[in-house]
Amino acid sequence: MTIWSPPTDDLILADDAVHVWRASLEVSSNRLQQLRECLTEDELSRANRFVFEKDRNHYITARGQLRELLSRYLSQKPADFRFEYTAHGKPSLIGDHALNFNLSHSGKLVLYAITRRRRLGIDIELMRPDFSGVEIAEHYFSKNEVAVFQRLPQNLRADAFFTCWTRKEAYIKAIGEGLSCPLDSFDVAFAPGEAPKLLANRINPDEVSRWSMVDFAAGDGYKAAMCIEGLNLQVSSWQFLT
Ligand SMILES: CC(C)(COP(=O)(O)OP(=O)(O)OC[C@H]1O[C@@H](n2cnc3c(N)ncnc32)[C@H](O)[C@@H]1OP(=O)(O)O)[C@@H](O)C(=O)NCCC(=O)NCCS
Repeated sequence: MTIWSPPTDDLILADDAVHVWRASLEVSSNRLQQLRECLTEDELSRANRFVFEKDRNHYITARGQLRELLSRYLSQKPADFRFEYTAHGKPSLIGDHALNFNLSHSGKLVLYAITRRRRLGIDIELMRPDFSGVEIAEHYFSKNEVAVFQRLPQNLRADAFFTCWTRKEAYIKAIGEGLSCPLDSFDVAFAPGEAPKLLANRINPDEVSRWSMVDFAAGDGYKAAMCIEGLNLQVSSWQFLT
């Protein structure tokens, strides 16, 4: 069970800490307009490229709230932040901030993870029971993971599928490589009750001792996981309030 606490006014992000924020993507039209106003031209043109209004609004909401969150940690106005992107699309803050973040959205929720001087990735998925069969697992999971998945009784598979998916996705987002990282080159723990962990990386075996994984109960029907560089970190979970 994750407790999503209301934030205190004097949030302190220690060097060995990570703050995870849960927020809704469903906002009023006034609030949407307020969030839109802190986006840059390139973010607005990206928003305008979404075909569906819902996706456009979710992007604006996720970006605007990210800017508001960052301004809690850095004395800058939400509209003043500038982002740069890796070749694989991972955003980071421009400037000497030493603040790292990652975000993920699915369904009606967005999660943000914020830390200092550590790579990290977070993933949330609204579980779709029709999307958790063996064929799909064979496509996305490693051979070892597929073998674990196939040994599970049918009634545990949907849950385990999304546990594995979010943990793998959190790792590829943490290293920032997106889908250019071969999904069969590493294994995560995901059997029911198994603690989140990177179990093996066949390209770089040292990776296993470099990363921590944490799960979050974000809401009914959702799975979420974070992967972060370093061990024994202090994890806090906050509910974003508007
Ligand atoms: C780019 C990618 C991160 C998108 O993931 P996604 O699940 O569609 O979307 P999420 O909501 O979790 O994350 C999107 C956010 O991650 C960030 N992001 C984008 N590229 C990223 C990258 N290479 N690394 C880390 N974070 C990235 C952005 O902030 C983005 O939000 P924005 O578009 O609003 O700016 C990539 O990993 C991907 O395409 N995954 C496809 C899913 C898949 O096959 N997963 C296999 C798991 S077994």
